[in-house]
Parts: sequence; C-alpha cells; structure tokens
Amino acid sequence: MEKSKEYLQKEKFFADLDRLHLSLTFDDVRLKTRYYPEDYDPNQAPDLSTHFSKNIKLKLPFVSAAMSTVTESDMAIAMAKEGGLGIIHNAMDIDKQKKELRKVKKYVNSLIEKPIIVQDDWSIEQLLNYCNDKNFNFTTFPVVDQNENFVGMLTNNNLKYELDESKQIKDIFTPLDKVIRTDPKISSEDAFLMMKKHKTSTLPVIDLNNKVVGLYLWSDLVRIHHEKSNYNVNEKGQLIVGAAISSGTDYLERIEEIKNYTDLLVIDSADGDSKFVVDALIKVKENYPNIDVVVGNISEGESALKLAEIGADGIKVGQGPGSICTTRIETGIGTPQVSAIYNCFSKLNEKYSSIPICGDGGIRDKGDISIAIASGASSVMMGRVLAGVKESPGKVISRPDGSQYKEYYGMGSRKSFDNNPNSKIRYNQTDNQVLIEGVESIIPYQGELKTVLNGLVMALKKSMIYLKTKSIEEHRYNTNFTRITNSGLRESGSHDVNVIGI
Ligand code: IMP
Repeated sequence: MEKSKEYLQKEKFFADLDRLHLSLTFDDVRLKTRYYPEDYDPNQAPDLSTHFSKNIKLKLPFVSAAMSTVTESDMAIAMAKEGGLGIIHNAMDIDKQKKELRKVKKYVNSLIEKPIIVQDDWSIEQLLNYCNDKNFNFTTFPVVDQNENFVGMLTNNNLKYELDESKQIKDIFTPLDKVIRTDPKISSEDAFLMMKKHKTSTLPVIDLNNKVVGLYLWSDLVRIHHEKSNYNVNEKGQLIVGAAISSGTDYLERIEEIKNYTDLLVIDSADGDSKFVVDALIKVKENYPNIDVVVGNISEGESALKLAEIGADGIKVGQGPGSICTTRIETGIGTPQVSAIYNCFSKLNEKYSSIPICGDGGIRDKGDISIAIASGASSVMMGRVLAGVKESPGKVISRPDGSQYKEYYGMGSRKSFDNNPNSKIRYNQTDNQVLIEGVESIIPYQGELKTVLNGLVMALKKSMIYLKTKSIEEHRYNTNFTRITNSGLRESGSHDVNVIGI
C-alpha cells in the first residue's frame, strides 16, 4: 500500500523522537487539524467501526478491561449491546468464568435451537391445555406429523379467529407450501434479511431430512439487526464476548471448557513477550486454530512482529500506563503509551497490517482515545473509565455525605493477589512473597454504561471531524501529532478562571 503524505509525516515525527531515544504519552502531544481534503464530506458522520482482532469486528473501538472490578457478564453484555466488547477476566475458577461467558451468549436468542414443536393431529383444545400446563406465553409452533417431519407452522394468527376448539391443528395451520423456511447454514443476519424481504414473523429452520432444527422470530432478530441497533453479534446473532486466559498451567483445560461460549481469547499477561506467553500462544493456536487469540501486553515493535509471526490475531499494548498500575515505579520498566502503540503499529505495518492493536490502559481524558487511535491503535481497552458504572462488578459504596463510589483495584494489587491465584500468574509470580504492582482505589459512581459510552462516542466523533478523518482506519494512518510542552498542556485545559460549571 502506498504511504500517504500524512503517514510519511507521522513516520518522520516518531523517527525524530527515536533518534533522541524519547518516548511520549497522551499529555505530551496533541493532534494536528488540517484543511479539509477534496473528498471529505462534512455531512457524513465518522465511521467508528473497527477490529479488535483479525476476525472480531467492533462497531465502537471500546473494550472493557479483563479485570475483576471491570468485566464480568453484566459489563460484557452492556458493552456488546452498545457495539463494543467486554473481556471477562480469569481471576476466577474455570466454572465461574464459563458461567459468566454463558450468560452473555444466552442474553439474546436469535436462533431458538430447540423450538417447541406440536403435532398436526392435536386438537386446538389439546394444544391450549398443553400451553397452559407448561406456562407457555407464546403460540408460535412448527408443526410436525407422526414421523416428526415438518408439515407447517402454527401462529397466533391461525389461532385467534378459530372458535371451534375441537378442530385439529392441521385444519387451521399454515401448510408447508405456504411457509417461508430456511436451511441450517443461514447466518442470523441473512435470516433477518430473508424475513424482512418476505414480511414473515417466523422462519423455521429445516434440515435435509425435513426435521425442525431451529426457529427464528422477527421480534428477536429486529432487536439485533435493525440498522439503528448497535448490538455487536456473531454469525449466530449472539452478543460477542472475549475471555482472558493466563499463560499458567490451566489454560488448555480452561479453553476446552469455555470455547463454546467465547468468540475470542486474550492471553493476558503483564509481560506479553515472555517465553511463558509465547509458549502458550503456540499451544493455543496449535490446538484451537479457529479461535482468534489476542496477546499482550507489550510495548516494543520487535515483540509485536514476533508475536504476529507465531500466530497472534491481535496485539495488546501497554506496560505500566494503567491508572491503578505501579509496575513502572516498582520496576523502572515501560514505555509511555503513545510511543508504545506507535512502535507496535509501525512494525506490524511492514508485514502484518491486518493485525489490529488494542491500546490498553492510561486513557484518562476522552481526547486520549483519539490520540491512542492516531498512534495506531484500532481499539482501546479501558479500566478506570468504565469501572464506575452500574454494570461493573461490585456494589455501589455510599458515603454519609451522599457521594457514591465503586471499588477499582489492580489485578496486581495485594487485594487481587490475595483473592485470586490467577492474578499472580498475570505477573509471573507464584510465591507467597510477591511484588505488588497495583493499587486499590475507589472511583465515583457513574450510573449506566450507556451514558458514559455516549460521551466517549461524541468526543471521538468530534475529534475526527476536526481532523477530517472518515474512519478509524484512516485516523490510524493519516492523523498527525505535534509535541507540546507543559505550557501547552496548561493551555489545553480550562485556565485562569474559577470554574463554576461545565
Ligand atoms: P486503566 O484503564 O488506566 O485503568 O488501565 C487498565 C489496564 O491496566 C488493564 O487493562 C490492565 O492492562 C492494566 N492493569 C490492571 N491491573 C493492573 C495492576 O495491578 N498493575 C498494572 N497494570 C494493571
């Protein structure tokens, strides 16, 4: 791909920094606006769709962190409903993680896999008694004959004008030749389009042997696939979710248990270019070649390249930028986040430009998201920004002065190590004597996730409008930086006024 003028400028900006051995983070830079290009349509809203990994698409570039105070099923459901993604943490036993993932998968039921079927020779009275006994509050059924072959559909429309309850189902149902039906290979979205085209509210799925193997309902599909819906769903119409795994001892056993309930795996480590992680990645890809595996965390381009070579489907960048993280202070390691993301982005661009980067940690102000993407991230993972919402795990803490908080602690904090053995593995520590790499905190309660995400979406779109970038992909390549000083940073926020409101 030919490099754009803007991309070449970005390359030069970072090459100049590299010559000075200088790395920057969000507060060190701002993004440069530009005169609008000829093909830029100011009435077209920026497109925020992107990828978390090679095959996992997002409608919004937001991912909730794999942390015990951020992402369990409620958060993952809420994130996917808004078009983002939640990664369910693994600081819990396998069974609990499976249950959490399962809840996400079962949240919307696009395909009813085992619909209740009824027989064509039943009387209406028999059917009504059956529904009564079973407490069914629906009257839509595929109808079969004595050999369980599909022969037609019974819907509320067939039933509601029929007063003679002695009639048989076969006297009133919609027979085979008038039923729109489909085969098991259809995707949830194509089922939706088919139902829309034929204006049908039910779509039975029939196999080659004429047996009923599923049922789509318009009322379910319209919720998922309506153009105004932001639901992030897979082929089956289930909400998308990811699962964190460690590079410790139980990961293969864990994957075997959870594989049917997750769309992707994230090998979650503070030291993502260690031998433990590389070995785990090789093993996971060998055993599960069809599941996308995102690997992290790293900061260096060479590491990104090596992980891509051995099969990573996505790279997670960020060692030490997290709000609750003390790794850089305790160990002296780490590269400030803008440079870390760019290091990996520029290196992957040489050969693996289809492998997305997720910028993990350090998002403080809304504008940081736009900066992370301009540095090369396809998505950002957030902990603190999301941990204060209703859908994060844990209770709301109320203070006597009426203020409300939620707990937010690092996976490398004492509390996490004490509660969950897996969090020690994230930091390659198994002994009783451990180095603490995170803190415990409380953060203000923020109500529903949707409101917080709306704010982030608005800010990111506005940023892209200033920068005249139409898509996340264009934003990654064509947005340029300027380096700022402390005076520039001071000028960036409100200043020299007594703020009394916003
Ligand atoms: P935040 O969005 O700035 O709060 O950062 C969240 C990210 O910090 C997570 O996604 C992890 O990558 C990282 N993280 C979580 N717990 C710890 C910790 O205890 N120490 C260091 N990093 C952590």
